[in-house]
Amino acid sequence: EQLKVFAPATVANLSCGFDVLGCCLDSVGDEMLIKKNDLKTVRITRISGQDLPLEADKNVAGVAVNALLSELNIDQGFDIEIDKKIKPGSGIGSSAASSAGAVFAVNKIMGEPFTKQELISFAMKGELLASGNAHADNVAPALLGGFSLVRSYCPLEVLSLPVPEELRVVILHPLIEIKTKDSRSIIKQNISLKSAINQWGNLGAFVSALYTKDYDLIGRSLQDEIVEPIRSILIPYFNDLAALVAFNGALGFGISGSGPSVYALCRGDKNATKVKNAIQNFYSDKMIDFELHQSSIN
Ligand code: HSE
Repeated sequence: EQLKVFAPATVANLSCGFDVLGCCLDSVGDEMLIKKNDLKTVRITRISGQDLPLEADKNVAGVAVNALLSELNIDQGFDIEIDKKIKPGSGIGSSAASSAGAVFAVNKIMGEPFTKQELISFAMKGELLASGNAHADNVAPALLGGFSLVRSYCPLEVLSLPVPEELRVVILHPLIEIKTKDSRSIIKQNISLKSAINQWGNLGAFVSALYTKDYDLIGRSLQDEIVEPIRSILIPYFNDLAALVAFNGALGFGISGSGPSVYALCRGDKNATKVKNAIQNFYSDKMIDFELHQSSIN
């Protein structure tokens, strides 16, 4: 028995939802092939596209699958092949795609003993290995699709939020690597009450706007005065890009996860293409290689 899966990239967190808000992209992702083996052990048999560890206990997919299998208390083995299209350290959930894709496929092959919600905590073990922190904001939307909100980490409670149908995402990935571990180490551990008030006001408004399809409110609430001011220093031309996408009519803009990718949320394909072209023109005379993606949220 074997299964081929598309393991999607994710933008998480988005601005005001540090570690709690993410969304799933439908046009960027890895491909994975998962097969049962007779060896009673999990093996990463092939990774193409990136130089990543093949030892199961050092690979996020291996760790996540082993967490699932030990909960089931069975010694079934699996071979995992990964065509890695999402670059590690890109800020669009590379480790999450591998962890989530692997547990999703193994669960399917095993006859779905776990719900997708339950799979989140196994996939989080992969995130723990990758970044030193078991955050769920990438793995949850990778498994559930659309937007996810982590209401609570302990106990884990994740909500799926609606996706207004005209919403599009443009992602710029400057090809420099920022490790999540490093960009987590520079953020402040304590914040002022004033900042907290602004942040939870924006997050609440963003969630409301998804339900009411209030695109302007989506834009106004995509702000982050806690993490972004610190992390944006690591991202080349961050402020210029923010001004550029606003000028071209994007709803909102911010760092995708821990960077260096940045995202713009747009209303409709036409505006997304306009924003993408503007970024393309701006970045093409800079000395930094980059990738650009345009995607729906699904
Ligand atoms: N929420 C995490 C962070 C996502 O921003 O550090 C990292 O992919």
